Amino acid sequence: MTNDFDAIPRERLPELLRRMPKAELHLHIEGSLEPELIFALSARNRVALAYPSVEALRAAYAFTDLQSFLDIYYAGASVLLKPQDFEDMAMAYFAKAAAENVRHAELFFDPQTHTDRGVPFGTVIDGLTRAVQRARDELGVSAALIMCFLRHLSEEAAFATLEQALPYRDRIVGVGLDSGERGNPPEKFARVFARCRELGLHLVAHAGEEGPPAYIAAALDVLKVERIDHGVRCVEDPALVQRLVREQVPLTVCPLSNVKLCVFGTLAQHNLKALLDAGLKATVNSDDPAYFGGYVNQNYLETFEAVPALTARDAYVLARNSFEASFAGEADKRRWIAELDAVFAG
Ligand code: HPA
Ligand code: ZN
Repeated sequence: MTNDFDAIPRERLPELLRRMPKAELHLHIEGSLEPELIFALSARNRVALAYPSVEALRAAYAFTDLQSFLDIYYAGASVLLKPQDFEDMAMAYFAKAAAENVRHAELFFDPQTHTDRGVPFGTVIDGLTRAVQRARDELGVSAALIMCFLRHLSEEAAFATLEQALPYRDRIVGVGLDSGERGNPPEKFARVFARCRELGLHLVAHAGEEGPPAYIAAALDVLKVERIDHGVRCVEDPALVQRLVREQVPLTVCPLSNVKLCVFGTLAQHNLKALLDAGLKATVNSDDPAYFGGYVNQNYLETFEAVPALTARDAYVLARNSFEASFAGEADKRRWIAELDAVFAG
């Protein structure tokens, strides 16, 4: 790249942020379930909800921490019963992603949230797989599925989930670790991640969102993950930051989520700029967009607006990082980065 980023005026940033091709690497598909679709599925499947209206449900989206969000997020997912429900949910996300110039999305899904309610694993994966195929064919969006283990449950339960996933091994690009971080360190899942590694699955884990920097180190050393989801608390340990820079471990940062879950008081206080300036391989993502006030472009736009130090070069680097950190093929990555270069050159 020979671009003169410094010549790009700040006024052009919103347009560039929207238009630049990007990948989304930290998106819980159940967290894209909008209140309107929750109510539509509740009627279609005759599942009662604890909230009388879309407005009442949306009004409940005032979170104090991760757990207060998870309680409502698992309740929202209770309306998903049939393959069509999972397909409709994911297609609604893909339509938004396509409109926001997302070229590639790696979707987290939480099978245990569904299998524990009696929804078969096959129902979940069939609906999501169909949406992944339609995203490619109808919208030109490349997509892959990452199965997450719920860390508040046991490793034995994670093994049982892996067992159910094995017949569908080729439909899953990797595994992750989500749900309540505090008190559920990566070490708890050492054996199941080792097994997933033997199976050739890509590995990622949430760490350093609410949990301490030691959880980030354990995710790398014990689970052997390739990316850290969130990771923003790494800055509390300078030696860990040095290591993450040296090894260029991607961090999938989710600014609006961090503010909604009170990891940072305001977006202006978010450390995204500090992470980039330290040389960390940060990316921007939406986490649970239906709950946290915006999809990926809203995350870019609001963060760049709130943090004036973020530049056009930072925008380019974030988008480039998103492709480089993805599990897509090298030819696809090269094509998307060439497209990104053209947007910043033009
Ligand atoms: N953190 C942990 N678990 C989750 C999240 C999150 O942000 N979203 C959905 N499950
Ligand atoms: Zn997450």
